[in-house]
Amino acid sequence: MKVTLSVIKADIGSIGGHIRPSAKLLETVRSKVAELGKGLLIDTYVGFTGDDVAILMSHIGGTGNAKVHKLAWDVFIAGTAVAKAQGLYGAGQDLLKDSFSGNGRGMGPAVAEMEIEERPNEPFVLFAADKTDPGVYNLPSYLGFADPMFSSGLILSPKVGKGFTFRIMDVAYTEGDKVIDLSAPEDLYDIAALLRDQERFVVESIRSRETGEIAAVVSTTRLHNIAGKYTGKDDPVMLVRTQGNFPATGEILAPYTIGHLVAGFMRGSHHGALMPVPRNTGISFFDGPPIVSALAFSVKEGRFTEPADAFDHPYWEYVRGRVSAKSEDLRRQGFFGPAMLPYSELEYGGIVERMKAMESKFRVLGGMEPVEA
Ligand code: F6R
Ligand code: MG
Ligand code: MG
Repeated sequence: MKVTLSVIKADIGSIGGHIRPSAKLLETVRSKVAELGKGLLIDTYVGFTGDDVAILMSHIGGTGNAKVHKLAWDVFIAGTAVAKAQGLYGAGQDLLKDSFSGNGRGMGPAVAEMEIEERPNEPFVLFAADKTDPGVYNLPSYLGFADPMFSSGLILSPKVGKGFTFRIMDVAYTEGDKVIDLSAPEDLYDIAALLRDQERFVVESIRSRETGEIAAVVSTTRLHNIAGKYTGKDDPVMLVRTQGNFPATGEILAPYTIGHLVAGFMRGSHHGALMPVPRNTGISFFDGPPIVSALAFSVKEGRFTEPADAFDHPYWEYVRGRVSAKSEDLRRQGFFGPAMLPYSELEYGGIVERMKAMESKFRVLGGMEPVEA
């Protein structure tokens, strides 16, 4: 059976700053999805990661389906009304357009979708990250799908060992979707050369070379590019199919032990170590840290099991301690050097104005200019 998995995620308002959505907001989103999804969706799951609400949906409408995207938009509008009524912070902040225009992509919410020919048993993982941006998945995808140091299936399983094709998007290009397809292992160094720059080049999708099947999809929205100014971080979602011809769930999870440094954190303007967290975890220290949740599902004829919360395990408690220490080390140097993003990536206009105001006060000292008393 052909099934489409769609996850659409947005920040539509939080309690006490950018901490987490309210129970009432979540309740509204859940009931609205159930109401509007009748006859359109096979199954749904609603959860939150930090200040973002994710709606996972299964249906047979294909990717980019206008009805499904409109449903998510209408649900977020209804959630925003509750957020406004409760005085939540940043109510409707990710809904950048005034009205729905046919496709949710480019309107603010993060969208990741795949149409699959369902296998007899179909495991997949929904990743949702907050206080960071789409390039956050570059390193874990590279390690999980192309590096046998993390993904032993690449040498142990003949099917997995055929390798994977990465579709990588240049997110700085705003006229359309500019992508390149590169295959591991032979294009490995080209893939690495692009993915190292996680602000500019982002994994958009990954396919199996054994079967051509879709393995992973990532939301690639950059709110900054849509709105032209700071409107919050892009907080991406990713869907990954696992097992069989794909890496095992554990191989896909393994790279998150690194707690790699990513852009985001306070005011979307710093670097911090990515912390793997249980589902429905809020935001705290320094409007962060950057977090990622991983919910593993099985799906049968479009019906989901309950999620298995992959980062809610004693192993990851140890990792979270280490990751906190890593962020803490960087935080100690405040805004200096790599603790804060480079000027070109700073999300807040304030620093641009500050630099402009100083420009006219700079002067070039002539060789003979006397030193002021
Ligand atoms: C980051 C984020 C927050 C805000 C910060 C200031 O994604 O959403 O760190 O940037 O709390 O928010 P304002 O300027 O709205 O007070
Ligand atoms: Mg927010
Ligand atoms: Mg967010």
